[in-house]
Amino acid sequence: MRSLLVAISATLISIQGVAQVSEVPIVRYDSRIHPTLGPAGMVASQNYLSSAVGAEILEAGGNAVDAAVAVGFSLAVTLPRAGNLGGGGFMLIHHAESGTDIAVDYREMAPIGATRDMYLDENGDVDNSKARFSHLSAGVPGTVAGLYKAHSEFGRLPWKRLLQPAIQQAREGVIMTYDLAGLLRARRDRLCRDEAACGYFYKADGVPYEPGELWVQEDLAASLERIAEDGMAGFYSGETARLIAAEMARGGGLVDQASLAAYKTVIREPARGTYRDYEIITMPPPSSGGIHVIQMLNILENFPVAELGAGGADNVHLLTEAARFAYADRSEYLGDPDFVEVPVEWLTSKAYAKELAATIDMKAARKSEDVAPGVEPVPESPDTTHFSVIDDEGNIVANTYTLNFSFGSAIAVEGAGFLLNNEMDDFVAKTGVPNAYGLLGGDANSIAEGKRPLSSMTPTIVLVDGEPSFATGSPGGSRIITTVLQVLVNVIDHGMNLAEAAIAPRMHHQWYPDVLQLEPGFSPDTVRLLQEKGHDVRRTRYTMGSIQSVGFKDGVYRGSSDSRRPNAASTAPAEKHDQ
Ligand code: GLY
Repeated sequence: MRSLLVAISATLISIQGVAQVSEVPIVRYDSRIHPTLGPAGMVASQNYLSSAVGAEILEAGGNAVDAAVAVGFSLAVTLPRAGNLGGGGFMLIHHAESGTDIAVDYREMAPIGATRDMYLDENGDVDNSKARFSHLSAGVPGTVAGLYKAHSEFGRLPWKRLLQPAIQQAREGVIMTYDLAGLLRARRDRLCRDEAACGYFYKADGVPYEPGELWVQEDLAASLERIAEDGMAGFYSGETARLIAAEMARGGGLVDQASLAAYKTVIREPARGTYRDYEIITMPPPSSGGIHVIQMLNILENFPVAELGAGGADNVHLLTEAARFAYADRSEYLGDPDFVEVPVEWLTSKAYAKELAATIDMKAARKSEDVAPGVEPVPESPDTTHFSVIDDEGNIVANTYTLNFSFGSAIAVEGAGFLLNNEMDDFVAKTGVPNAYGLLGGDANSIAEGKRPLSSMTPTIVLVDGEPSFATGSPGGSRIITTVLQVLVNVIDHGMNLAEAAIAPRMHHQWYPDVLQLEPGFSPDTVRLLQEKGHDVRRTRYTMGSIQSVGFKDGVYRGSSDSRRPNAASTAPAEKHDQ
């Protein structure tokens, strides 16, 4: 079965040139019901080699958490624009045996010495290059701690075994993908401002790799080996910590050995909601994503969404009005719950949603300018990456992690082989001044030592009768929340399968700027009807998000890797084997 799937993947890649697509139904019965029919599961990630790593870990007897940890490390090798050791993220786990759902918060923390006004210049203006492309733009990385924590909670295979594929990929090299080669070519100037990054991601003299060339990462392999040997200590103390601190000292950054030693993963109670007959388990603060997905679903529940029809003008209008409310609340109330009181119960209550729903006029767009001044976002590729894993024991994992921008701050830790995040830009540098995604905020998301910047990452698990139905998530900066929302609505209201739900064209509205962004797939009729309702419609140049979903339905494990970005794959394990 495995070789057949790999063959199918290869065909799709070669035919399409740019995309690995489609739902991959594995026609096999649920081994919980038919134990003799063997193992099953599914891994969906943005890189086909990393999906294969996850499938291999399932074959080796690992569970979904083991596979997710291995995929997380592998993507740090294969997908350096977002996969990372130097960033952070969130992992949501539904663990069948213990009947628990947990949210592993491994978001970056502001380092010791970070202050509210650290990005303001002498005129009190935000210095964007300091916030986004300097050593000061890095928060204390959380990825290694988060993956370690997830493994120590629910992992089964030895820790070292989970690092082994990533070490091998870094040391022996991986094939430069079409996806990465293109992006590296486009970002050469930015990455080659930093000598170490230029050396890691380009050939001699900054010459870009061509797709298909072998790309070896020796320093990264050594960093991964230290993590394999010493666990968290292999990153937060010892040689890697020394290299990070030396890099910071060279560039005037704050992430020193004391900040690294102080990093803490937090296990949080997930945000929970219901939508029609489905239970929604999603990411709580310091992500805004889960709260606002639940808030918007609660609003939509007051309308006959299925009858409005997928992609129709009334449907897009309704999503837009719901998003306008959600993103306005985001700017006011959301921040790190360890520092500010976030009114989660109220924001996710059916009663509040009903009040908001009652004010929606289905014929006319509301104006955001009545609420606050408008701002234009800086065009920036919003990168991050999501992966999902399901195993045959009823465990399911949704993980989104990031460096913030593609390639983070574009500064690598010399000698350690990985990039630093620029997550500090997700804080509010100055009230009323938007971040790179055009998002506004205030005190709740101001900078403080040890605080986590507000995120939009929305790893989400959907249960039916307590059993996993599917897991999903996406990159896309501020668009993550509306992207995940639309997948949920497409599956639950419009009866689409995971692949159809991901392929359907997407809209986005975030309160400010007051524009309705639409991918090209909407019909001219729909656009005209939306304009007649008063929406300022903009057709996007870029696709929105990249959904990676897995699920289980009718005895079939399913995976769907978004066709918007190349080289992603959903991969199933073959039979389990002894190590
Ligand atoms: N850095 C993007 C996010 O966390 O939402």
